[in-house]
Amino acid sequence: MLGRSLIAKLLRRLHLLPPRAVDVEKQDITEAAPQAEESAVRVAEIETAPLTPTETYQEWFRGVVGRWVQAPNTWPATSWMPDTPWGARIAKLMVEVEHDYASALLETLDAEGIRGPIVEFGVFQGDWLRVLLDACESRGYARQFIGFDSFQGLPVPSAEADLECFVEGQFSAGLAEVSARLEIERRDNLLLVPGWFADTLPTSQAATVGDISFARVDCDLYAPALECLRYLGPRLADGAVLVLDDWTFDVTKGETCAFMEWRPEVPALDFEFLCFNGVGHLYLRVRNRPIPDDEMDTAQSQPDPHPEPAPDDAGSRSSSQP
Ligand SMILES: C[S@@+](CC[C@H](N)C(=O)[O-])C[C@H]1O[C@@H](n2cnc3c(N)ncnc32)[C@H](O)[C@@H]1O
Repeated sequence: MLGRSLIAKLLRRLHLLPPRAVDVEKQDITEAAPQAEESAVRVAEIETAPLTPTETYQEWFRGVVGRWVQAPNTWPATSWMPDTPWGARIAKLMVEVEHDYASALLETLDAEGIRGPIVEFGVFQGDWLRVLLDACESRGYARQFIGFDSFQGLPVPSAEADLECFVEGQFSAGLAEVSARLEIERRDNLLLVPGWFADTLPTSQAATVGDISFARVDCDLYAPALECLRYLGPRLADGAVLVLDDWTFDVTKGETCAFMEWRPEVPALDFEFLCFNGVGHLYLRVRNRPIPDDEMDTAQSQPDPHPEPAPDDAGSRSSSQP
């Protein structure tokens, strides 16, 4: 039978448990039996070595959700790539599983009496809005749905803070086309708000939205994601589900970077980890809590991962508007 330490070692090797300096120390003494001094030096080296970007992310994320979560979570591992027939089947199944998961969360919200609006930031052709609409309608849940989008695709990405795969104008679908796809004519509980977030979120219409029960941030880029999160801060219901659809596992990029910048701005919110799916969708549960006075002072102390460049530096951060 495998001993507990051997199992832990195997899990660590598979990156399913975090590396721990104390285990390295124990292993050196009990298994390899090096000199105690040599072992202590090695532990000290491990403890003072600079963190890799993944470790930096993982340390930060542990602070956000209060527990260690392997990232990115790579299970299930398979050699079938998504562009092969078997890989495509796996990808399709994972999408179906996520739809069922989101529907189950809606049931939880309903059972707990959290019945505020469902909001998506980044609608594109409306696929996710349709999933959530269908899930609510088939269960007889009366919910308001709001979708914010430029309906012109992505704005100019930031060379510094966004992944290179995103380009201006990507995911463009017009308001008329999306309205038709979502059969807006027969749904008086659905509102699509066209325009750049920087223009639409500060409007009085958007200001009246509150107690949001389910929010999907699916705008791919750092700057728009930060605008959405800032809008959401005072509007998320206690117990709301927050989905970040483009989690990068990198505190310097995209939605993860935006979340890192936003997190200290909302000390009254706690985030409970629900899951990652296989394609970077992060599900969190949001809890509101009273803030003790001594926490107020430290709430704004996170470093800016992208400090503003000097005035003569040409590569400044792009805004969410092109
Ligand atoms: C990946 S798509 C959304 C996909 C969609 N949620 C679905 O279910 O398929 C990203 C969307 O974000 C929108 N978007 C990104 N930045 C924006 C901004 N600053 N203002 C408005 N819309 C924005 C784009 O127009 C695009 O439709």
